[in-house]
Amino acid sequence: MTKNPYGPILITGASSGIGNRLASSLAAQGHVVYATARKDEDIARLEEIKNVIAVKLDVRSPEQIQDAHDFILNEGRGLYGLVNNAGQGGLGMFSTWTDEEMFDIFDVNVFGVHRVTNTFLHLLLEGKGRIVNIGSQGGILTKKYYGPYTMTKHALEAYTVALNEELRSQGVWVSIVQPGGIVSNVGANALEGTLARFRRAASPFEDEARQAMASFEQEPVSDEIEESEANRKPSSPEIVAEAVRDALFSAIPKLRYLVGTKWEGDRVLNALIQKLLDENDNPKHSYSRDELIALLDRQISQRRARASSFVPHERRQAEGG
Ligand SMILES: NC(=O)c1ccc[n+]([C@@H]2O[C@H](COP(=O)([O-])OP(=O)(O)OC[C@H]3O[C@@H](n4cnc5c(N)ncnc54)[C@H](OP(=O)(O)O)[C@@H]3O)[C@@H](O)[C@H]2O)c1
Repeated sequence: MTKNPYGPILITGASSGIGNRLASSLAAQGHVVYATARKDEDIARLEEIKNVIAVKLDVRSPEQIQDAHDFILNEGRGLYGLVNNAGQGGLGMFSTWTDEEMFDIFDVNVFGVHRVTNTFLHLLLEGKGRIVNIGSQGGILTKKYYGPYTMTKHALEAYTVALNEELRSQGVWVSIVQPGGIVSNVGANALEGTLARFRRAASPFEDEARQAMASFEQEPVSDEIEESEANRKPSSPEIVAEAVRDALFSAIPKLRYLVGTKWEGDRVLNALIQKLLDENDNPKHSYSRDELIALLDRQISQRRARASSFVPHERRQAEGG
């Protein structure tokens, strides 16, 4: 049997959903996976998977992160990949989010990513490895009730781009995967907090909050009608795992991986075009339609040129040459 050329991969939040699917698929391919969870029963379940080493980790706890780091360091296998997957959801009108709730969602989705990445960075630099952040299409879009969650995912977009620029010269690549709706425990885990916030809604929002809560109890939508805002079709976590595997192992990983249904992809592209048109709606420096198309063409050819010339150099750097 050929030896696996890659070092281990650390995945945060592997008890369920995307992280769990990713951990088992990487382990099945023969990779050593450090899969983190918070609850003892999840740790025990993860330990049963061949090639998975379960590690207790709450990303809000600097002590647990340090313990996880010391354990992995003492194992002596190094570290090739870090997948910052652990995340918390939650909906509600801004007026109903307490300071503590607001801090907590940022603590998990943003500060936790920063803490874990910084702690393991020296091992990733040694391994000339990869960092993959699980963002969301909510890092590009937002809408009412999704404010705080999408704020954290917008923050992760900026974090990924800036960190990638910092680490590329050192041979470490950073990517962000942006899923749409995915079958997981995210909604169920966040339901209690979400309902508490809608119950807290004060005048003049009580009626609206009652309607929002009623909508959570509606029957699941039909598979037979086309996807729309009211008829969402969550995808399998496998499509996210597939994008993460590409970000981890392809010679030239992409910076962004948009994953989900076609309807979701169209929604993201249309939102980006709307944003472009908003920015262009500037009386002093506005481009005409033809000029905008020329700008788009120029970006497309610059991208092609980069792909054919700049990439081999980047690859040499990634390989330490
Ligand atoms: N599902 C979607 O539709 C969707 C869409 C876009 C992006 N995402 C992102 O995908 C990632 C994975 O979520 P999922 O959908 O797979 O949901 P999930 O099934 O709820 O999984 C979330 C994971 O994060 C862990 N976690 C939560 N808080 C944590 C903390 N403080 N410290 C460490 N681990 C913590 C959970 O552990 P416990 O079991 O202990 O709570 C669980 O393992 C998240 O970043 C989420 O924002 C999901």
